[in-house]
Parts: sequence; C-alpha cells; structure tokens
Amino acid sequence: MNPIVSVEHLSKSFGGLRAVHDVTFSVEQGIVLGIIGPNGAGKTTLFNCMAGLFPPTSGTVHYEGVDVTGWSDAQLARAGMVRTFQLMRPFGSMTVLDNVAVAAAARGANERESLQQAWEILQQVGLDHYATRTSKDLPTAGLKRLELARAMALQPKVLLLDEVLAGLVPTERQPVIELLLSIRDNGVTLLFVEHVMQAVMALSDKVLVLNHGEMLAYGTPNEVVNNPEVVEAYLGDEVRNADS
Ligand SMILES: Nc1ncnc2c1ncn2[C@@H]1O[C@H](COP(=O)(O)OP(=O)(O)OP(=O)(O)O)[C@@H](O)[C@H]1O
Ligand SMILES: [Mg+2]
Repeated sequence: MNPIVSVEHLSKSFGGLRAVHDVTFSVEQGIVLGIIGPNGAGKTTLFNCMAGLFPPTSGTVHYEGVDVTGWSDAQLARAGMVRTFQLMRPFGSMTVLDNVAVAAAARGANERESLQQAWEILQQVGLDHYATRTSKDLPTAGLKRLELARAMALQPKVLLLDEVLAGLVPTERQPVIELLLSIRDNGVTLLFVEHVMQAVMALSDKVLVLNHGEMLAYGTPNEVVNNPEVVEAYLGDEVRNADS
C-alpha cells in the first residue's frame, strides 16, 4: 500500500539550532503514529514543517503522492492534512457552535450546512451541551474537545495532533483517547505528539521517537518501550515522573 504521508530527509534549522535533522518516515493510510521524545526534541517543529506553518530547511513532505513541501497550512488543510495546536486558540467570544461552524465554512460549506455539520460534530465529541456557550467558558477538557471538533470540521484525511492530552487530569484522558479511536475508526490517519505514555501505548500502531531533532527509533509501541536507547533518552524520566 502506498503511504498517505511520507517525510524524507527533513531538516529544519533556526539560525544555528538544528531543531529537526534528517528525519525520514512514512505513514500508511488509516494508522495511528505516536511521536514521542524529550522537551525540545523537535516534535512540534516536525509538525510545523509537515503542516505548512513554515517550510523545512531541506527535505520533502509528500501527501497522497504529491510533493507538498512548502505548501501553506491553508492549502494543506483544503487537501485534507490538518493540524491542531499545542496551545489552544479558539475564538473566545464566539459560541462553541460558531467556532466549529467557522471551520466548516472555511472548507466551503454554506451557513446552513456549516451549522448543521458543526452540530453533528459537537454531538460526536460530546460538547453539544455547550453549543451556545462562549468558548472561553469551557474548562480545559472542553477546549481540547473543541480543538478536535474544529479540526474535524475541516474533514481531514490526516490529522496532526500536538499534545491534545496535555493539561488533562488522568480521569479526563480516557474519554479523549476513546474519541481519538473513534476518529481513527472513521478512516482518518492520525499522527499525534504526546507525553502521556498510557495514551501512546493505547493508541499507536507505530511510534516514532525524536531526540535532539534526530530519529532515535521507529517501531511498534512495544519495540520502542523496550529499546534501551529510548529508555535512556526519554522513558527513564517519564517512568520516574509517572506518578507526578
Ligand atoms: N520558531 C522557532 N524559532 C526558533 N527556535 C525554535 C522555534 N520553534 C522551536 N524552536 C526550537 O527548536 C527546538 C525544538 O523545539 P520543538 O518545539 O519542536 O520541541 P518539542 O519536541 O515540540 O518540545 P516540547 O515537548 O517541549 O513541546 C527547541 O530548541 C526550540 O527552542
Ligand atoms: Mg512541542
């Protein structure tokens, strides 16, 4: 099967800092790829290069067989590759429903269709009770769901999620993990950056480990957590901090 996304020899430098260095991997349609690694490893930068926030310094990104290197985030979103942000940024004064409808309208739906689709998505993510509230009234867990709802309104084929579980207490995580699995079951290919290892293990078909901008490992979740280099670079601390 042809990969839906492939990244080849991708590097990104900021001045003299090599944030991402020579990363190569590909993702088959419908799978879930978890991306892990220490703070500053280059995970968000990799997503930014893939999703059109800025071009890589060198290397390529292919999506559905097309070289999309250097495409803007809006072009990529229209083509079906959508990312969410580690720092959530909804329109605080708009209602939750309108926040999602705006995303549907950006895809070209008219006002009635946009509202209808927004409503259906809010039901799917469990935010329908908040539909008429402004998004600044939402607690963190609700904002995470809203972020997902806005991404889904763009009808992505590939969804890049940057730390959607960050800031959630453990009891709030499981419903979001289940939501992600249901998005996956609808055929969306998921790439997600996450520090919560329980979620990485529960969701991922494959895991990519970045360290100092370089690919340290790539494999199944079990292969990766049993890789001594990964334990040394990253998981040792995560395991030690697991209860904090
Ligand atoms: N826009 C930017 N300009 C300059 N340096 C940047 C920029 N974005 C990221 N960096 C630097 O690139 C390196 C990788 O950062 P990045 O945010 O990609 O890491 P990360 O793996 O997402 O970390 P975290 O787990 O903390 O979110 C860091 O040293 C960071 O300071
Ligand atoms: Mg990051």
